[in-house]
Amino acid sequence: MKTQRVLTGITTSGTPHLGNYVGAVRPTVRASRLPGVESFYFLADYHALIKTGGDPARVQRSTLEIAATWLACGLDPEKVTFYRQSDIPEIPELTWMLTCVTGKGLLNRAHAYKASVDKNTEAGTEPDDGVSAGLFMYPVLMAADILMFNAHQVPVGRDQIQHIEMARDIASSFNHLYGEHFTLPEAAIEAHVATLPGLDGRKMSKSYDNTIPLFAPREQLRKLIMGIVTDSRAPGEPKDTEGSALFQLYQAFASTEETAALAKAYADGIAWGEAKQLLFERLEREIAPMRAVYDALIQDPARIEKTLQMGAAKARAIATPFTQRLRHAVGLRALDAHAEPAGGAGKAAKVALPVFKQYREKDGLFYFKLTDAKGALLLQSRGFAAPREAAQAMARLQQEGSVALDAMAQHLIAPEDVERVTLALIALREATA
Ligand code: TRP
Repeated sequence: MKTQRVLTGITTSGTPHLGNYVGAVRPTVRASRLPGVESFYFLADYHALIKTGGDPARVQRSTLEIAATWLACGLDPEKVTFYRQSDIPEIPELTWMLTCVTGKGLLNRAHAYKASVDKNTEAGTEPDDGVSAGLFMYPVLMAADILMFNAHQVPVGRDQIQHIEMARDIASSFNHLYGEHFTLPEAAIEAHVATLPGLDGRKMSKSYDNTIPLFAPREQLRKLIMGIVTDSRAPGEPKDTEGSALFQLYQAFASTEETAALAKAYADGIAWGEAKQLLFERLEREIAPMRAVYDALIQDPARIEKTLQMGAAKARAIATPFTQRLRHAVGLRALDAHAEPAGGAGKAAKVALPVFKQYREKDGLFYFKLTDAKGALLLQSRGFAAPREAAQAMARLQQEGSVALDAMAQHLIAPEDVERVTLALIALREATA
């Protein structure tokens, strides 16, 4: 099976809470460890500008906190591509190319925009009162995030499904006009991930002001938990698990056996104070080790910055050549560049594909090279002791494309024209897909 690309982002406009952890961070960190998935996780700070206009310190602080949260929760930046949206200038560039194939009517129908218009209409003000063009364009920016990396799966909350559908629409329009450049993404909804209740029993959400910050200091966490609403049943009276926020919170962290044990304690009339203490201890058991890492990371923003820079380099190894290909496809190209029929690199390449060749030299070592269809050299390997090693290196390039170029640098003679190598690898991959 082809590697599945999974991509998701978190808007950097607040402090992560238990609901974000259970609903988004924990499942995606787990998913990133599965074989056969290539994960892209990013901090959506361009998106944050829409909500936090005029509060630059908050955007910076939230970016630090969310980055530290991902890392403290076990995201391995060596294994996944972990980056900050605004480090990839190709994303706003792609946003513009997509904007030009997006119907304005499509954006008029976006839930978030419509909600603002409805509110204004009700209040009797101008429909677009207080609505920025950024809010209106939000779905296009999000489509660019997803399409830039040709993600197959996008894990999101239910409120984001419409945005993924719009990304598919936009991708189809572009593909129709310019050739098959984009994969059509799908929303991945975690059916079994319950929405977590907040302190007052309603859904845990910033907008209800009922959240428990994931990395609140231990004593603050205890206090918050002691403040969770319960009913007025006295110690000794049996209690309902159904509709108990306390119980649902416990369940999100505990094993099946632990949950069953608490259900029994409810039936046996456990005192609310005691149940809260159990919840606190269970949460502490999972969170405390991560909190220690988080606190250390927050103290060392330079280290996180370095990690993000490394991630940006990985992301741009894909985004830069891909954007180059898209620019070419839409007609933003050098004046002496060869014009291709609509359909771009992919279709044209089917007629004349580049070729990999493996061979042995007089020095007894094994080599491979990549040439274009006419035999002109694009990429040349260094010598390998065994033919198998040469074959494996060649296979890796075929499978992973130009992303592998950096990692394999020691085995390659630095290519003169990385872009042509990248386009050739993309064409080969498409031809065999
Ligand atoms: N809009 C998403 C949210 O608020 C965050 C986001 C931005 C995102 N770009 C994305 C999620 C791309 C998935 C893919 O939750």
